[in-house]
Amino acid sequence: MKEKPIVVAMTGASGSPYGLKLVKTLAELGHKVCFVVSDHARVVLKEELNLDFASVNHPNITFMDYYDIAAPISSGSFQTRGMIVCPCSMSTLGEIANGITRNLIARAADVTIKEGRKLFLVPREMPFSPIHLENMLKLAKIGVTIMPAAPGFYHRPKSIDDMITFVVGKILDRFEIEHQLYTRWGQNEFNLEELKSL
Ligand SMILES: Cc1cc2nc3c(=O)[nH]c(=O)nc-3n(C[C@H](O)[C@H](O)[C@H](O)COP(=O)(O)O)c2cc1C
Repeated sequence: MKEKPIVVAMTGASGSPYGLKLVKTLAELGHKVCFVVSDHARVVLKEELNLDFASVNHPNITFMDYYDIAAPISSGSFQTRGMIVCPCSMSTLGEIANGITRNLIARAADVTIKEGRKLFLVPREMPFSPIHLENMLKLAKIGVTIMPAAPGFYHRPKSIDDMITFVVGKILDRFEIEHQLYTRWGQNEFNLEELKSL
């Protein structure tokens, strides 16, 4: 059977390098991606990396228009493996938490929830207000995975790319997608071949 695509959305929270790395990694690992970006994601990408989305070009990535409410991912009958919103703004998080579906990102997330598929949100804001926290709790209680863009330091990152890779690697782990993006905690101390033979 042909593999179902993964929906990836980028919104206007800070953290566009996470979203770019995620979508490019998925495509390079051979996964099909339906990719949709909000208008504000375009503004933030320009601010943060001085790039536009023309730089995201891979045969495994299909762009979908943020305003095209008739796009395939708008319907539950279009099969996907789930959806990741990275980064996720508080605005889009609020829409998803409250079932407001006026654009393709919010609609696809609503569909993902109603169809019982994996939905991951990667929020970025600081500090979180009680409204943000309530919206996140509401979503977490119905099975949405909230994965804040919070890179760890225990793997001793040496570059910004190490920190981005850490966050993207954690997202892929939780989505059960195999990757070699980073060295896992404890991996250096064990001889994995020895462990397998136990
Ligand atoms: C440079 C820049 C950085 C921003 N960072 C954040 C952020 O980290 N988190 C957030 O929730 N909103 C952030 N915003 C505000 C959102 O872009 C704004 O709320 C927008 O309406 C979100 O729309 P969207 O969810 O449709 O992309 C930022 C805006 C700009 C211009």
